[in-house]
Amino acid sequence: MMLMKSKYCTFVSIIIRRRREGDPSMTKTVGLIGSGNIGGAVARLAVAAGLDVVLSNSRGPETLADLVAELGPRARAATPEEAARAGDLVVATVPLLAYEQLPASALAGRTVIDTTVYYPYRDGRIEELDAGALTSSQLVQRHLAGSRVVKTFTNLDFRRLFTLARPVGAADRSALAVAGDDAEAKARVTDFLDVIGYDAVDLGTLADSWRIGPNTPIHVQPYLGAWPEGLSTAEERGRWFFQAPGVPVPAARVRELIASAVPVPAGGPTPPSAA
Ligand SMILES: NC(=O)c1ccc[n+]([C@@H]2O[C@H](COP(=O)([O-])OP(=O)(O)OC[C@H]3O[C@@H](n4cnc5c(N)ncnc54)[C@H](OP(=O)(O)O)[C@@H]3O)[C@@H](O)[C@H]2O)c1
Repeated sequence: MMLMKSKYCTFVSIIIRRRREGDPSMTKTVGLIGSGNIGGAVARLAVAAGLDVVLSNSRGPETLADLVAELGPRARAATPEEAARAGDLVVATVPLLAYEQLPASALAGRTVIDTTVYYPYRDGRIEELDAGALTSSQLVQRHLAGSRVVKTFTNLDFRRLFTLARPVGAADRSALAVAGDDAEAKARVTDFLDVIGYDAVDLGTLADSWRIGPNTPIHVQPYLGAWPEGLSTAEERGRWFFQAPGVPVPAARVRELIASAVPVPAGGPTPPSAA
């Protein structure tokens, strides 16, 4: 992890002090529904920041033993319902095609971070999204009618999500956009992002969240940086993708990129490997 050690210690001590003071808006336990690329990165950042995590997936807690072992005593695995009830903040990070399987009653009353991105090649065609009537997060919010859904983590890839995290005050700290219909829920998520290594920029409502979707100026590329020339094979591209440290994107740049977005058809492209 790229957090510098001395600043990181200050960062952690601030968190521990705030927690000791009993601030009820501070997240202490993060429930994860989905523990794949994004869920795993969020869990690693949360544990590094001194939070507890409860992981879950579709195949059962026993399949998460390796990740739990890597994360150590702050992590355990459970069912999605248990993770939903255990978290004072829950991250729902599953393919959009599974959104109706999110446990709505266990999530009622909770703030839920939604990371979904609509990829028709994977999720199938969803008429309301194709028609521009709803964003994917509005769809998730409709299913989780008793929860407060907040969209974030969707416009950078899981490697850069991990490598670009920085302590409070770092000159090269990046920001993430946060969209939601409930101000208090957005404040809780902003606080969580701060704790795990990011500034937050308020993007507006869930209806506005198309501004960080696929084919918009802020989607993935600014944080990833330009692909070097001369990577001719999939293996070379894959190696570069996994090793590239990423490019910090500060809050001011996030605001500019969001403001420059123009409406585009919903849905991300089909990757060459799935075509
Ligand atoms: N990868 C990225 O860089 C990236 C960036 C931004 C946003 N996103 C979006 O974030 C979401 C997650 O992406 P990802 O890359 O982390 O996906 P992933 O690596 O495929 O992981 C998906 C996770 O969701 C779990 N899951 C699937 N269906 C479930 C269900 N019904 N109940 C509980 N858990 C379920 C999977 O569990 P099993 O393995 O047991 O099925 C797995 O742990 C997607 O919507 C994606 O488009 C991804």
